[in-house]
Amino acid sequence: MKIGVFDSGLGGLFVMRALVRKLPRYDYVYLGDTQRVPYGNRSPETVYRFLEEAVRYLFKKDCGLIIVACNTASAEALRKIQRNYLPKHYPKRRVLGVIIPTVEEALKDKKIEKIGVLATQGTVNSGAYIRELKKLNRGVKVFQNAAPMLVPLIESGEFKRAEPFVREYLKPLKRKKVQKIILGCTHYPALKNMIRRIAGVPVVSQDEIIPRKLKDYLSHHPEIDSLLSENWKRELLVTDITPEYVRFSRKWFGKTKLKTVEL
Ligand code: DGL
Repeated sequence: MKIGVFDSGLGGLFVMRALVRKLPRYDYVYLGDTQRVPYGNRSPETVYRFLEEAVRYLFKKDCGLIIVACNTASAEALRKIQRNYLPKHYPKRRVLGVIIPTVEEALKDKKIEKIGVLATQGTVNSGAYIRELKKLNRGVKVFQNAAPMLVPLIESGEFKRAEPFVREYLKPLKRKKVQKIILGCTHYPALKNMIRRIAGVPVVSQDEIIPRKLKDYLSHHPEIDSLLSENWKRELLVTDITPEYVRFSRKWFGKTKLKTVEL
């Protein structure tokens, strides 16, 4: 069986590229819902419906494990998938999110007292980062800011135009003197150099974390690892083939065929 990587759009390609580099033997299916991106400004009910459709699709494609790279979907809908959908339909398979591993990494440094989170409106409203950060360190002060303009700019390849928005979105976090900033959205690694330069504090980027965390997870869960096939295969699926998606996937996955699917 394969590893599925799901995102609302092309942002998850950053995680997918990092996974393939670190754990190349496994077979991967990427699914990006480029037709319906962004998820970040939708209701939790809609995000749940979209995620359930994606999970069902990837399980039908023979995925034994799905990584929900999308923070918005991880924040708003993953728990319900894990608690209700999975035990009923696919009890032996797993769906994992990105928020808990990110938070573990961010708080590895025990001296952190103030932490910033940059994410979509949906992720901020869900309170998921605050909840998970405080589970690990009750005293940590968490400052969140939603950055709704960044995803559309990234999906359309307008990286340079993002700088004034990045400055504006980082301002309240800098004012609070946060010691670290979590990029709580799959798309933001596209701007991580710019964000690091402007933030002036360490920035946690999920493409740098998730592969190592998945490796750890699989070594602790041989029952899941043994489900996974190792033929070095990659599949790239989206609900709409957009120009920027073509650019990224060509750059990182060469000639891998791009296919559109309906969820
Ligand atoms: N992929 C989403 C996330 O990680 C952001 C993009 C969106 O709003 O759909 O939160």
